[in-house]
Amino acid sequence: MHVGIDEMSISVPKLYLRYEDLAEARQIDPAKLKHGIGVEKMAVPDADEDVATLAADACLRLLRGSGVRPDDIGRLTIATESSLDEAKALNAYVIGMLEQAYGGGSFAHCGGAEMKFACVAGSYALHDAANWIRAGESEGKCALVVATDVAKYALGSSGEYTQGGGAVAMLVKEEPRLLALDPKVASAVVADHRDFFRPMGFVTPVFDGHYSNWAYILQVVRAFNAYRARARAAGLLRAGDSASVLEAMDHVVFHLPYPKMGKNAFAYLFREDKRSTPQWEEIVRQSGGEDSPLSLDEADLDDLTGDRSLLERDNAFRKALLKTEVFDQSFSAKVADSLYGCSQLGNLYSAAIFMSLVSLLERNAEREGLAGKRVLFCSYGSGSSAMVYSGVIQPGYAQVAKQIELEKQLSARQSLDFTTYEKLHQGTVLCSSPIKRKEWGFQLRRVGGEGVTRGLRYYALVGDPVPASS
Ligand code: HMG
Repeated sequence: MHVGIDEMSISVPKLYLRYEDLAEARQIDPAKLKHGIGVEKMAVPDADEDVATLAADACLRLLRGSGVRPDDIGRLTIATESSLDEAKALNAYVIGMLEQAYGGGSFAHCGGAEMKFACVAGSYALHDAANWIRAGESEGKCALVVATDVAKYALGSSGEYTQGGGAVAMLVKEEPRLLALDPKVASAVVADHRDFFRPMGFVTPVFDGHYSNWAYILQVVRAFNAYRARARAAGLLRAGDSASVLEAMDHVVFHLPYPKMGKNAFAYLFREDKRSTPQWEEIVRQSGGEDSPLSLDEADLDDLTGDRSLLERDNAFRKALLKTEVFDQSFSAKVADSLYGCSQLGNLYSAAIFMSLVSLLERNAEREGLAGKRVLFCSYGSGSSAMVYSGVIQPGYAQVAKQIELEKQLSARQSLDFTTYEKLHQGTVLCSSPIKRKEWGFQLRRVGGEGVTRGLRYYALVGDPVPASS
């Protein structure tokens, strides 16, 4: 039995800030943001949007597009690190909104919870849903997995130009039309790291940018090595020390806090993968002749980030490797297409890795070329945990991918001036007076102000809820 993603849908904020405007206001070289970070537009939620409206819009789009009815869904899991409530799960708000379209009680049977582990939570949620089906608990029903987040950093901080937001909804079922997950290969590693966290009550995270980049690299490489061992044991990869994982993968999608991270992370995976192959000597020669002394699998995060000379030598090697033809060919074929969504939206936290998949699919939707191709997923969440897993794109993918409409949603957005962006960031725009009028979907109408409804959120549906035929 194959289990995996049958349908996907996305929802993106109505507004965006251009990188040129952010660069000008903060006096940063725009070339750094465009080429060093890789971001072009940064998604900004309007005053009537939040992670619940983004999630509910993505779910409603998926249900409308697929014709799947509430009764077909047995479980809803929502991955987020931008939770709106310390107790009430986002699920309840999302189901409340969906029932405005499908009728009161239509999702009453649909159990599930909110899940958190920074940006990796969506990958855990996807696997839990798949395993719920594999275990036979679903009794023929599908699971709806939604990753939804708004990445918001302090104004003027180094995280500001990696902000973003959006939601991705996935229908998980047997014999999926989009992607079948490879069983018994998903590999996770966990450590207690201080790279990025958001204590209770904080609106923006506390983070150590460069340290967090290294936490990401070390954890993803460790999960990659664990994946290699599991994939060999499962018979997915050839046994033997020099067998390459990347050669068995047609595409690699990453958690993307910013697009350039995907390129850098691929450089480290490429090195880890090729180092034990006969090709490596030639790659080092093409990179200038001096290999990096860094051993990723054994490195300690604090020792590594404190060793300036090691970092400098490693950095010089990475930059040289990025310029080699052999790396460039592999990167262009396996990774480049998946960076697009992040360059237009910024960091989507838990939804980011799935936006990478959407970008890969959408950029190939007109061609049938992806059917049968294997995709490696490299997921990372601060704090920290990485998960590496894989799946195979199914023959029916192109039809499903066309309905995701990433480009259509991106081009319907409105550009923001910098002053309005700062007002939205500071929360001084009322949800009753959004910057751009919403044509369709769910809207935050008000937040309860006193007594037993203090802090309670009220949402309403705008536009035609469900076509009469579905
Ligand atoms: P920074 O100090 O702003 O930038 O930090 P930098 O000086 O390191 O420069 C970045 C790149 O731009 C470098 O290239 C520079 O050479 C280049 P690289 O070394 O990568 O090849 N550069 C230029 N290029 C062209 N023209 C120029 C120029 N100047 C410099 N003029 C950092 C960057 C990402 C650290 C910062 O934005 C940050 O702190 N971001 C927030 C934290 C973050 O995104 N961490 C990522 C890993 S952790 C993660 O992914 C988890 C997360 O998603 C949260 C979760 O799990 O929930 C964040």
